[in-house]
Amino acid sequence: MALVILISGRGSNMQALLEAGLPVSAVISNRADAAGLRIAAARGVPTAVIEHRAFASREAFEAALGREIDRHAPKLVALAGFMRVLSPAFVERYRGRMLNIHPSLLPAFPGLDTHARALAARAQQHGCTVHFVTAEVDGGPIVIQAAVPVRADDTEATLAARVLEQEHVIYPRAARWFLDGKLVIRERSVNVEGGDAQLVIAPR
Ligand code: GRF
Repeated sequence: MALVILISGRGSNMQALLEAGLPVSAVISNRADAAGLRIAAARGVPTAVIEHRAFASREAFEAALGREIDRHAPKLVALAGFMRVLSPAFVERYRGRMLNIHPSLLPAFPGLDTHARALAARAQQHGCTVHFVTAEVDGGPIVIQAAVPVRADDTEATLAARVLEQEHVIYPRAARWFLDGKLVIRERSVNVEGGDAQLVIAPR
């Protein structure tokens, strides 16, 4: 099978990948209380929990996580709200076959609290990005982005909700491109064979 998804919580991006009909062989969480686990299980998708807290070191956690992932021999690993920073060695192990979704228009606002930071910066545009994972956090080659206009009356919650809607559009698209062998990774950028649009502009 083709795709293993790593989550830590709600799992709405995971759900979007499942609903898009992508071949998901397993969902793995680093938290037993991740709501997404129940959503996956209800759809008959195998789930596993590898709790980071149960391990003495990041290396030991990542070794167990890697073993669980590799059991499924996935073509692609999709981070979907997976809230652990991964070591360079782990990232290297899945180089060129691990994607992440980030709630900002990278390279703007890597890291946490992106919606509040976009509002504080008076950004006119915000959005989300699917990128390949590299050792630089939120810094890998960009596959697709969706731009979401910021409204004058936006709050963190309203902006987050409109960005999330677009996350659910672009992540399945990016995963499908990958699985169809359409992505060509260059040093810092990614091309899609066939020239499908790598930028989505959400309506105001
Ligand atoms: C999303 O905003 C995603 O971009 C970020 O974490 C959040 C996860 O949400 N990496 P969900 O668990 O997919 O609902």
